[in-house]
Amino acid sequence: MKRIFVILIVILASGALFAEGAAEPVEENVVNVYSHRHYDVDQELYERFTELTGIEVNVVKAGADELIERLRTEGPASPADVVMTVDAGRLQKAVEMNLLQAVDSAELDSAIPEHLRHPDGYWFGLTKRARVLAYSVDRVDPSELSTYEDLANSKWAGRIVVRSSSNIYNQSLMAAMIAAIGEDAAAEWARAIVSNMAREPEGNDRDQVKAVASGLADIAIVNTYYLGKLLTSDDPEEVAAGRSVNLFFPNQSDRGTHINISGAGVTAHAPHRDNAIRFIEFLTSVEAQERYAAGNFEYPIRDDVPPADLVSSWGNFREDDVNLSVLGDLNIQAVIEFDKAGWK
Ligand SMILES: [Fe+2]
Repeated sequence: MKRIFVILIVILASGALFAEGAAEPVEENVVNVYSHRHYDVDQELYERFTELTGIEVNVVKAGADELIERLRTEGPASPADVVMTVDAGRLQKAVEMNLLQAVDSAELDSAIPEHLRHPDGYWFGLTKRARVLAYSVDRVDPSELSTYEDLANSKWAGRIVVRSSSNIYNQSLMAAMIAAIGEDAAAEWARAIVSNMAREPEGNDRDQVKAVASGLADIAIVNTYYLGKLLTSDDPEEVAAGRSVNLFFPNQSDRGTHINISGAGVTAHAPHRDNAIRFIEFLTSVEAQERYAAGNFEYPIRDDVPPADLVSSWGNFREDDVNLSVLGDLNIQAVIEFDKAGWK
C-alpha cells in the first residue's frame, strides 16, 4: 500500500484535520485537497500521483459551498492547496471571493481548451460532462425532441423529471439558459418546466432515469456519465433502468448542448503551491484523462484523449462553448428565478 491517507468526511466538524499532517517532517511532500468530487476513480488517481511523485494527497470531501466557506474562514492559515468542484460556477465564486490564485502553466494551457479554464489561470477544467435528455425508448420518438427550450411545450405536461433546483448542475443549466436567451425568457422557461414535471423534484440524476424506467415520466434531465454508471452497475435493476432510455443532446442546430466541468484551482494561500500545480498538471495528463474517461464515463478535458467506448457510442455532439465563468456570474440570478418559478 502506498502511504497515502485520504480523509473522507461528509460533515465538516473539526478545524484540526490537517494539524497532524502539518507537524510531520515530510511536509514538503504533501498536497492538501478540498474536493467536492464524489467518484471512486479519484482515489485511484491520487494513489497514482503519489506513486509517481512521492507527494502524499490528503483529501477533505464535502459540498463545494461548505469547502468555500471553510476556506474563507480559515483565511491565510488554511492548509488547503487545491479546491476541486463538480461545477465551474462554484470555482468562479471562489475566484470572486479571492480564495484562489492565478497559475501560469504552459502545460495546463495546452492540455485544456480555452473555454474550459479561467482566462487568467484561476481554475482549470479536469473533466467534462453534458446535461442532456434521457428519454424513454418506448414512449418518446427522438424526432419529437429538439432543444431545452422545447421542454416548455405543453406536449410534455406531466412527462418530465428533474432533480431539485438546489442542485448545482441545475443551477448551472439555468445560468446557461439565462446567458443564451435572457433572464425573462429563462424565467418563463423554468415556470413551464415546473408545470410539465411528472412529480416534485426528488432524488439524484440516477433516480430520474429510474423514474422514466418505471413509467412515471418520459424524459429525465441528467448528466451524461450517470447513464454510464447505470449501464455498468452491479445492480440488474439499474442496468434495466439505463437500457430503458436513450440520450438526446439538445440544441444541436444552434448554440449546442450545455456542458459543465469538474475542475480545480490553487488556493490563494496554498502552503504547497508547487505540489498543487504538479497535482493539477498530473490530472490533465493523458494517463489521468484516460482513467477519468474509463472510470467515471466523463468526457476527457483533452481533445487528444477519446471518451470511453460506451460514451463514444452516444455520438459526437456540438457543445455550447460559452466560457464557463458565466455559470458563476449568473448563479445568483439562476437561484432567484428557480425560486420564483417554484422549482423545488
Ligand atoms: Fe455527479
